Amino acid sequence: MSFLEIDRLSKAYPGVQALKDVTFVVEAGHVHALVGENGAGKSTLIKILAGAVRPDSGSIMLDGQPYHPHTPKDALAASVSTIYQIFNLLPDRSIAHNVLLGREIRGPLGLLDIGAMHRQTAQILEQLYAGYLSPAQPVDSLKVGEKQIVEIARSLVNESRLMIMDEPTSALNQVEATALFNVIRSLRQQGVTILYVSHRLDEIFELADTVTVMRDGAHIATQPVTGLTRGLLVEQMIGRTLETIFPPRQATTSTESLLVVDELNSGNRLIDISFTLNRGEVLGVAGLSGSGKTELGQALYGDQRIDSGRITLHGKPYNPNPGKALRNRLVYLPEDRKGEGVFQEMSIRRNIGLSVLERLTGLFGFMNLRREREIAGQQIRRLDIRTPHMEQEVLNLSGGNQQKVALAKCLSIDPEILILVEPTQGIDVGVKFEVYQFIVDQVAAGRAVVLISSEVSEILGLSHRILVMREGRIAAELVTDATDQEEVLRYAIGEARPAAGTPHVLG
Ligand SMILES: Nc1ncnc2c1ncn2[C@@H]1O[C@H](COP(=O)(O)OP(=O)(O)OP(=O)(O)O)[C@@H](O)[C@H]1O
Ligand SMILES: [Mg+2]
Repeated sequence: MSFLEIDRLSKAYPGVQALKDVTFVVEAGHVHALVGENGAGKSTLIKILAGAVRPDSGSIMLDGQPYHPHTPKDALAASVSTIYQIFNLLPDRSIAHNVLLGREIRGPLGLLDIGAMHRQTAQILEQLYAGYLSPAQPVDSLKVGEKQIVEIARSLVNESRLMIMDEPTSALNQVEATALFNVIRSLRQQGVTILYVSHRLDEIFELADTVTVMRDGAHIATQPVTGLTRGLLVEQMIGRTLETIFPPRQATTSTESLLVVDELNSGNRLIDISFTLNRGEVLGVAGLSGSGKTELGQALYGDQRIDSGRITLHGKPYNPNPGKALRNRLVYLPEDRKGEGVFQEMSIRRNIGLSVLERLTGLFGFMNLRREREIAGQQIRRLDIRTPHMEQEVLNLSGGNQQKVALAKCLSIDPEILILVEPTQGIDVGVKFEVYQFIVDQVAAGRAVVLISSEVSEILGLSHRILVMREGRIAAELVTDATDQEEVLRYAIGEARPAAGTPHVLG
């Protein structure tokens, strides 16, 4: 008998068979990874285990007992907790309130013991390498990665037998992810079983005991990680081989500056930021959560107040402004696709159409519907957006396919400068390659990209130069060919020269 037995689970949505007779088992005390392309059915399976979605057919056994949760409460009662791909936090409450929701600490008079709640929360945050967050901070003031940490902190408070994590690291940087891995390992030691979805294959090899591959709603394989190669895993996932992850990077030849940033300041989030972006180059921006790299992207787009400093675009002074960005052929892919990247309740076609509105508006101001369909169709094919049709509302797409719509909105504009924040978050390995190829093609065609990412390997694989940010400042400007992952991370965490024998926190 295995701890979790999933037997012939099926689930259909209009136009999509999300799960087809999925059968596999999960052993107690294992870290069991679940991988597959965007739209493969991973989140659907997880939602069923979490009691958020009912299957059409099939059955589940948990620890020898039939397990058919009708609501998330049923799942919690069976000691199954879930970290979803989409956040589930109360935005106007503090971090401590969210982390200890349902487990508030009360004093002798039954009043909330805020001090004790803050202390306990601080302790958990510290464990997750997020000691810089204050438990009293309201959640809606947090950035995506920080919200993810709060989600994880909350699930740690619930003592679970089965902990399900749907892409917990997609918004985390390397240091935070490493801290999470340590937490997962210690949970495993305590006998907790973990079902773990990720598109970052390195993590699977680092962390998991067993891995299950799904494709197009069907179960493909369940196997031990030991002895498995990356190539085979990728082939199981996408049905073909993929030799490299990063397309070759061309040397930059141009010294023409498209964008010059001079002594930019914004509160204590951005301090004395100066750099240039040349035609034909990818400028990577690395840094931990809270380092200011997200704010830098927002400031360049005009979504962040600027206190002082100068920005020059195409040789002219530029005052960033989202309304004018497009006319200046500057596009911005925001970090938080749910908040700003896409309109969840609109169709894929409209989402893509809106971003090219100016080009599509005809002589009399009418939208050229045929053109809109054409462009949306192109992007859907190019990024392999998995959907029954282009009229599908974005909120019904899988997480990675939503991210592809956000990307498609940027790609359909024909920009000159692209500011991309976490462009591949939640995107599967096959499409990641397409996105990387797209970035390389852009700069080969004389455009320029600011690549803001928490995946250091992605920055090293694509950028020509790298800015490493820490505490609102540029801690280092590095030439990619002359640096490596370790150096970038050392600048990011502020120990550029660790003493010999210091334990290596980054694993
Ligand atoms: N509420 C819904 N309505 C319609 N279709 C849905 C709904 N939820 C999921 N789907 C579809 O079911 C399929 C499986 O989606 P699911 O979210 O399980 O994929 P996933 O493997 O988690 O992908 P990703 O890696 O992109 O997160 C997709 O084709 C998706 O569009
Ligand atoms: Mg998913």
